[in-house]
Amino acid sequence: MSRWDPADYRQSSAMQARLAAELLPRLGLQPGLRVLDLGCGDGKVTAELAAAVAPGLVLGCDRSPEMLRFARQAFPAAAVPNLRWSRQDAAALACGPHFDRVVSFACLHWVGDHPAVLRGIGRALRPGGRILLQLGGQGNVDALLPYAYAAMDQPDRRARFRELVLPWNFPPAEPYPGWLTAAGLRPERVEIVPKLARHWGAEGLAGWFRTTWFPLLERLDPDQRGPFIAEICAAYLADHPLRDGWAEVRMQRLEIEARRA
Ligand SMILES: C[S@@+](CC[C@H](N)C(=O)[O-])C[C@H]1O[C@@H](n2cnc3c(N)ncnc32)[C@H](O)[C@@H]1O
Repeated sequence: MSRWDPADYRQSSAMQARLAAELLPRLGLQPGLRVLDLGCGDGKVTAELAAAVAPGLVLGCDRSPEMLRFARQAFPAAAVPNLRWSRQDAAALACGPHFDRVVSFACLHWVGDHPAVLRGIGRALRPGGRILLQLGGQGNVDALLPYAYAAMDQPDRRARFRELVLPWNFPPAEPYPGWLTAAGLRPERVEIVPKLARHWGAEGLAGWFRTTWFPLLERLDPDQRGPFIAEICAAYLADHPLRDGWAEVRMQRLEIEARRA
């Protein structure tokens, strides 16, 4: 069973936080709106949403009990009274039509059944409500995969990665307009947007691997994981040297905006 490490994610997710922050102005957030954040993780982006819509309510949903426990402790009701948390699977959302905005950042590439996600979102939105989803899209980690595969293919590891199926679903944009429409949503923007992820030094790049590539790491013994990550980072950085101290990785993010009719 794959597990998130919320404290490590909190420290190693500046890139995800920046990608979300870039999109928040598109949401037209204002006091009093109700917002659902799917795959809220450690809750730091969710807490920003809560600040932007207070006294409107924000509900952070996640499938991971570890993430939710961390988020609840980091942002307790006593400190952020308009923030709530709920354990839910994004593909089986059980929310009525209470929300003016449904957002999701860096989550849905962990979910297989996107038509089901969109149907749940459609049921959770008030008429006229809007959605903004951002996830890894087709080609998202192509810049890194060759280095990861080379490290997996070492003689002492090869057997551990036999029949590996990558844990992510990085979809193309094309099916979404149809899926959105079928879910009662009017598509407004569906596009793959190239992004340059920046991680501070080799350590930052390693932190991103450690916190988000854990389904691969868990195939190795604990003492083998650090050297595996270090090998991938060193090979990648040999071909893509740090720029002003930053490790840069080309990514492809799928961004989806739609409105409930
Ligand atoms: C990379 S974190 C993103 C957290 C936060 N949205 C951010 O931008 O920092 C991905 C989150 O998606 C959650 N997640 C993955 N699959 C999910 C699912 N089927 N339903 C709900 N949450 C899911 C994980 O538990 C994790 O907390």
